[in-house]
Amino acid sequence: MKRILLLSVLLVYVQVLRAQEENFVDPGTDAPNGRVIVSHICYFKKPLQDPTDVDGDQYCDCDVVNSPMGLPEIKIDCRRNQLSDDFWQEYEQLPQGTIRLDLSHNGLTLMPRLSGEKLRYLNIGHNQITTIPDKVFANVTQLKELDLSSNRIETLTTDALAGLSYLERIDLSDNQIRSIEVNAFSNALHLRQLILSNNSLGTFFNRTEADLYLRLGVTNRLVILEMERCNLTDINLSSGVGLERALLGYNRLQQLTKLPKQLALLDISGTPIRSLSAKFLPHLLHLKTLLLQDMPILYTLEEYALYGLPRLTMLTLQGSRNLSTIHPHVFGLNVARDETATKLEQLVLTGTNIRTLNSTLKLAFEKLSLLDMRGAPLRCDCQLRWLRELPNLKTHGLCVKPNALRGKAFGMIESQQFQCRAEQFWIYTVFNVLLAILLIVLLSIGIFLIVRAIRPKPHVQLRTVGASSPYARVTIEPNRAEVL
Ligand SMILES: *[C@@H]1O[C@H](CO)[C@@H](O)[C@H](O)[C@H]1NC(C)=O
Ligand SMILES: *[C@@H]1O[C@H](CO)[C@@H](O)[C@H](O)[C@H]1NC(C)=O
Ligand SMILES: *[C@@H]1O[C@H](CO)[C@@H](O)[C@H](O)[C@H]1NC(C)=O
Ligand SMILES: *[C@@H]1O[C@H](CO)[C@@H](O)[C@H](O)[C@H]1NC(C)=O
Ligand SMILES: *[C@@H]1O[C@H](CO)[C@@H](O)[C@H](O)[C@H]1NC(C)=O
Ligand SMILES: *[C@@H]1O[C@H](CO)[C@@H](O)[C@H](O)[C@H]1NC(C)=O
Ligand SMILES: *[C@@H]1O[C@H](CO)[C@@H](O)[C@H](O)[C@H]1NC(C)=O
Repeated sequence: MKRILLLSVLLVYVQVLRAQEENFVDPGTDAPNGRVIVSHICYFKKPLQDPTDVDGDQYCDCDVVNSPMGLPEIKIDCRRNQLSDDFWQEYEQLPQGTIRLDLSHNGLTLMPRLSGEKLRYLNIGHNQITTIPDKVFANVTQLKELDLSSNRIETLTTDALAGLSYLERIDLSDNQIRSIEVNAFSNALHLRQLILSNNSLGTFFNRTEADLYLRLGVTNRLVILEMERCNLTDINLSSGVGLERALLGYNRLQQLTKLPKQLALLDISGTPIRSLSAKFLPHLLHLKTLLLQDMPILYTLEEYALYGLPRLTMLTLQGSRNLSTIHPHVFGLNVARDETATKLEQLVLTGTNIRTLNSTLKLAFEKLSLLDMRGAPLRCDCQLRWLRELPNLKTHGLCVKPNALRGKAFGMIESQQFQCRAEQFWIYTVFNVLLAILLIVLLSIGIFLIVRAIRPKPHVQLRTVGASSPYARVTIEPNRAEVL
């Protein structure tokens, strides 16, 4: 209670002080280094590490630091300052030495005209800006990073980015851009990262014959392209010889045959295809990471679907819930002998509907060190034993079948426990027992009958022929009387 009281007294005191100062201090004041800084953005009268910086006051937070060369550099943070368009004069001279300016999360509807010869980073994201006037960045030519995300920009004209020849990264995501004029990016000779995600560009890129590079004037130095959620059906990136990462997820892509050859990462998550066929992806000799996450209706990876990706080390299908079949020859027919022997090291099948994997895949899994199958309904029978026996493989995932192994961690089961047996319900067991008893009974009867058939009948008696027997040989002596 005491502390809160003290704090509020302090706050009131500070505010009174400020009010007093503002009455007679003009915007031009001395910075700590003695240089005069004219600005209505920063409040340089108080010490710059001023702990009374409060969100929502009329000034932005301005930090002065010394650059490695000894010159003062100013970083201005105007986030969530409730700035509106009338805050800006016709044209705003930033304090000398300003290298960063963050104007995000304000209510701006017009692009402020800024001037600052050192400005390298500018964030105007999360405002309500609808247009970028031509040459509006003409006096901030050293800009390297420009963030215009989450505005309401509808189109990008040829001259909108004029003068930004050092620009390396531009974020235009979450706008309503439907068209981009020819060569809109041709001044940005050093552009490395272009973010256009979540704009409705599908119709625009469907219409255009030439590829993105020729059409927009994007330099082939571009390394990262992000175009997720753009309603794309197809895109031609074949001129992008420098492109290494292409994030093209959550579009309506039906094919992707026009990708540059040296791509290292490709993200086509969320693509609504039922079956990944051999035709879908081109051969990408440098591709290392392939992301096929959250594919809503993907059921099968067909034969040769992942053929021609010899450097693929990481493949994730996480969350592709309907995926149940991976073809034994998904990496090609004869992986081991082939020049395209895969180097797959990580395979993520979490949340898929995969029950088993054909042992032919063994050839492709030789270098596999991590297999994540959490949430997949694994059938841990003899058909999956080969997987358990792979050396150096770390697995995550639980068996769902057979019942005896239900809930056991795949990696903790001994390989001889992976057995194929007919499912044994108790009725089945009882039936088996009855059958066995019946068999024994029948067998006994059979044996009894056989024995009975062989045994001699009890009334048949063989008698030995003895001297007293009536059947004994009779010697009839000659009648002596006749002789006499
Ligand atoms: C750039 O600065 C010049 C003065 O040096 C000014 O006339 C012009 O309007 C400025 N342009 C923008 C876009 O701020
Ligand atoms: C896409 O952009 C719109 C604004 O244009 C925004 O409301 C929406 O949240 C964004 N969607 C995603 C997934 O970022
Ligand atoms: C995507 O494109 C189709 C036509 O190709 C269109 O009907 C649909 O409205 C578009 N979706 C969005 C979000 O722009
Ligand atoms: C794109 O163009 C193809 C023909 O080139 C057409 O069949 C398809 O409907 C078009 N899609 C959209 C979204 O305009
Ligand atoms: C893709 O772009 C390249 C280079 O501009 C071009 O040669 C090729 O014909 C294009 N392909 C398609 C299908 O538009
Ligand atoms: C994909 O699976 C989900 C359940 O995981 C189901 O709701 C959905 O209907 C399936 N999609 C198709 C196209 O069958
Ligand atoms: C695995 O794939 C091979 C080759 O397609 C096939 O001959 C074999 O029957 C499959 N094995 C199982 C258990 O499905």
